Amino acid sequence: MARVDLEKVTKVYPGGVTAVDAIDLHIANREFVVLVGPSGCGKSTTLRMIAGLEDITGGVIRIGERVVNDVAPKDRDVAMVFQNYALYPHMSVYKNMAFGLKLRGVPRAKIRELVTQAARTLDIEHLLERKPRQLSGGQKQRVAVGRAIVREPAAFLFDEPLSNLDAKLRVTTRAELKRLHRRLMTTTVYVTHDQEEAMTLGDRIVVMNDGVILQADAPLATYNDPANRFVAGFIGMPPMNFFDGALKMLDGEMVFEEGKLQTPQNHGRAGDSRAGRGAREAGGEDPPIAIGELTLPGNGFRLVVPPFYQERLEGSIGGHVVLGIRPEHLHVEPANAASSPAPIGVKVNVIEPLGNDMDVYASTTLHDHVVARVEAHAGLQIDARVTLYADVRKIHFFAPGATGMNLCQASELSHAPA
Ligand SMILES: Nc1ncnc2c1ncn2[C@@H]1O[C@H](COP(=O)(O)OP(=O)(O)OP(=O)(O)O)[C@@H](O)[C@H]1O
Ligand SMILES: [Mg+2]
Repeated sequence: MARVDLEKVTKVYPGGVTAVDAIDLHIANREFVVLVGPSGCGKSTTLRMIAGLEDITGGVIRIGERVVNDVAPKDRDVAMVFQNYALYPHMSVYKNMAFGLKLRGVPRAKIRELVTQAARTLDIEHLLERKPRQLSGGQKQRVAVGRAIVREPAAFLFDEPLSNLDAKLRVTTRAELKRLHRRLMTTTVYVTHDQEEAMTLGDRIVVMNDGVILQADAPLATYNDPANRFVAGFIGMPPMNFFDGALKMLDGEMVFEEGKLQTPQNHGRAGDSRAGRGAREAGGEDPPIAIGELTLPGNGFRLVVPPFYQERLEGSIGGHVVLGIRPEHLHVEPANAASSPAPIGVKVNVIEPLGNDMDVYASTTLHDHVVARVEAHAGLQIDARVTLYADVRKIHFFAPGATGMNLCQASELSHAPA
């Protein structure tokens, strides 16, 4: 077992694609780290560089105390499990699992002992004489894991090992992998693009995008306390709702006012007929105000910012910010009075029943896509105008842009309520 350290590791593929851009990642001995992010963000490249299957363009990779930049894959003491399992089709399960040990000259009796033990751990003893084509997807996946564990490597590297399994088997197999890790306590780096898999498996999850790490943290920290808007939108399903707007002081209170972003499609159209129809009930329409790319047409919703955020947001008053609210933190009923729920008027467009809950897709005056996950018996109708209440203890504020930083990371807000 060993720790794995990446220092300023970069990969530029021939042709000039920078797949991984100077990442720093320190994985503790025995830790289970999950790399997660959208397709093409550099997860597999990172894993393959650790395995030695891909040369690195810059930086240092250490496994244990040893720099492995120039060490051949077979000498790195890591075992990789691939998405397609990569089993030898002409060999039995037993031989597939024994092959690597045989190459390394492990005595026959020892091989038998290791393979039998791994097969028992993975509940595949009865399959040892079969060929891969006689196995189901889930069974092949176990054999691939078995082949990795018999080697007793310093680290396991998994690249989307569950993505060929059906949804139900994926859930049971990931629970088995977690149990296996508890038992063997082997340092593990696991790649997936599935944020739920990442949340459930990892001691720590590393959210990547465009070849860089956007947050490396405990799973719940990435959910409760995302470092930036990208992480906030990637972790959690359905994704967090984002509202562009601005912070203002109104009658001594700090208020977030919903605005509209100028995009090439709607340039010059903010405050047009759509906005006119939805004029705020009280106070009428204010004249539009422009802040950079943002327009405040005056008919968006307003939300009073709770006191415990205000200090952190003072520097953003008068500027463009992004309000983030998770679907599960929007309610049809106001929560208890102590949490000062914030009302947001919406029109219901689509309702997706999920059994116990339902996802309500709605629009505000200025934003077409708002999702709320509410209890199934909420009695909502399509096309109805309703009020959703945000639980203000759980809202977030970000700087503008796709990776805008969290302006009030809760870990730094000691006086925020739990
Ligand atoms: N052999 C290669 N040659 C050139 N570019 C490559 C090569 N392999 C990957 N890339 C590029 O490097 C980037 C990162 O690819 P990588 O396979 O690491 O992504 P990933 O995060 O694993 O994505 P996915 O979730 O789709 O598997 C992508 O832009 C990809 O097109
Ligand atoms: Mg990949």
